[in-house]
Amino acid sequence: MLVPTLDLLKIAYGRFIVGAYNVQNMEQVLAVFRGSLKAQAPVIIATVPFARDYAGARMLQAMVRAADEMYPQAVAAMHLDHGDEAHCLDAIRSGFYSSVMIDASHLPFDENIAITRRIVERAHAAGISVEAELGVVAGQEADHSANAQSALTDPDQAAEFVARTGCDSLAVAIGTSHGAYKFQGEQRLHLDRLAEIRARLPQGFPLVLHGASSVPSDEIARINAAGGNLNPDARGVDPTEFAHLWPLGVTKVNIHTDAHLVWYRVHREHFRDYPKNFDFRHPGAIFMEEFVRLITTRSEQFGCAGMLNEVRERLHHNAAT
Ligand code: 13P
Repeated sequence: MLVPTLDLLKIAYGRFIVGAYNVQNMEQVLAVFRGSLKAQAPVIIATVPFARDYAGARMLQAMVRAADEMYPQAVAAMHLDHGDEAHCLDAIRSGFYSSVMIDASHLPFDENIAITRRIVERAHAAGISVEAELGVVAGQEADHSANAQSALTDPDQAAEFVARTGCDSLAVAIGTSHGAYKFQGEQRLHLDRLAEIRARLPQGFPLVLHGASSVPSDEIARINAAGGNLNPDARGVDPTEFAHLWPLGVTKVNIHTDAHLVWYRVHREHFRDYPKNFDFRHPGAIFMEEFVRLITTRSEQFGCAGMLNEVRERLHHNAAT
């Protein structure tokens, strides 16, 4: 069942996190729906503009619609991740997305507000919710060497930003970055900053964490043992930290890199162990199983595993009232 993102975030607020998984091919789409069922957890399907360039926006939509028909008991919301103004407008017009993220955090504060406000007006007129971003989540958006401290979201600015833009959820920078190399040494999430941001925002306002893959060290080791060449110092978010996030208002956590690492490991190990195989279905089937396993594990860590019946009932109740 495809449902509105914002409804999920409101149900989740203060109680659990909904995982947002980036997809770009059929195997990932199927695995996210199967993952929802296996974990009995709601999921958010996210597509970034480069995924839409790779697979084609229409193809991604068709795959998600087909998976929704195949797995009607799953609960999933469709979200555009990291859109610029043109991508957001395109997604709003498509009538397929229930939420868009306008990514203008690299621009000066007032420009970020102006662009976000424009998207909010268009999206709300179409019944779609808007995630915006304030602060810099390094990685894709900035140089890896950027000083994370200097890019953290400013709590006072966050309050002004939300009031002036009317956005429905806010992605905050609290020390994470996109990709496999997030932290060095003792670096970790800035939960104190998260608490300050939450305290300045209206009660129940949903926060979002990008760059939240955990980059498991055993995954890196297996990839390298199978001929890969990743820096063994790669590090992500410690999964035990997720439980600190939902009491502080985080309702959505984005996962992209961890799924790529699963893909990389499965294929490297498969072709190492079965050098005569050239049937893509064999590693493809293993990849889907392993991605489902990742979603199940994350859902447990996000506190949303086993919540599907309750979420369905709440959605049903909301629709009826
Ligand atoms: P990761 O690179 O940590 O998976 O973050 C993905 C993300 O935030 C997509 O918006």
